[in-house]
Amino acid sequence: MTKTTKKTHPPDDFFPLRLKTQRLTLREFEETDLADVMAYNNRPEFYRFLPMPEQDETTTKAFIQQCITNQQQTPRRIFQLAIILQDQVIGAVNLRNIDPANKALEIGYSLNPEYWGNGYALEAVQEMLTFGFEKLAARRITATADIENEKSQRTLERLGFVREGKLRDFSNVRGAWKTHFLYAMIQADFEQRTHL
Ligand SMILES: CC(C)(COP(=O)(O)OP(=O)(O)OC[C@H]1O[C@@H](n2cnc3c(N)ncnc32)[C@H](O)[C@@H]1OP(=O)(O)O)[C@@H](O)C(=O)NCCC(=O)NCCS
Repeated sequence: MTKTTKKTHPPDDFFPLRLKTQRLTLREFEETDLADVMAYNNRPEFYRFLPMPEQDETTTKAFIQQCITNQQQTPRRIFQLAIILQDQVIGAVNLRNIDPANKALEIGYSLNPEYWGNGYALEAVQEMLTFGFEKLAARRITATADIENEKSQRTLERLGFVREGKLRDFSNVRGAWKTHFLYAMIQADFEQRTHL
């Protein structure tokens, strides 16, 4: 008989990760999130700047399954969390491309367009920055935003990210090459900001 071994995470894998903000919960994705994610991920204004093909039930299930698979990595290389408002998934926020040697991370975020304009991305990203700098001991957290994605640029600038430059032909969005601005927050920026 085959013995099944349940994978256990060391404490510094932060699994399952659950974070709370004033209005939101950030938690691991689950299979039952399918309908909530499908309520927005195929809306053109949602995916306009995102390098992903058109979404349907199959691709959405695959996305959630990939999140669940990634949760099992030890050490974890990506934290992809669902943003929950009143029991509903309204978006996602992630820390990825974890580079332990340089203590560098990238951050990404997206919201159901029905919920734009309420400061929810600010709140979720702020909490992930705190987790990244305080729990993962990040030195530098970067983000990029398409040069036409003004909403995303505003979110990063409001949070105190510094625009460091331009990344030409940085991503290919359904056949079109896109230039992004590179933004970064280093630990010193974060500390200075939280001690204001
Ligand atoms: C990028 C994205 C998350 C920004 O959404 P958003 O709701 O504008 O983000 P924020 O949380 O920063 O909200 C700020 C807005 O809420 C308003 N707001 C309302 N109540 C607020 C509150 N209590 N606190 C803070 N801001 C509040 C602000 O005035 C601001 O409005 P403005 O930009 O019109 O001036 C969203 O456009 C999105 O999901 N886009 C698709 C995916 C994407 O492009 N992701 C980024 C890839 S780089």
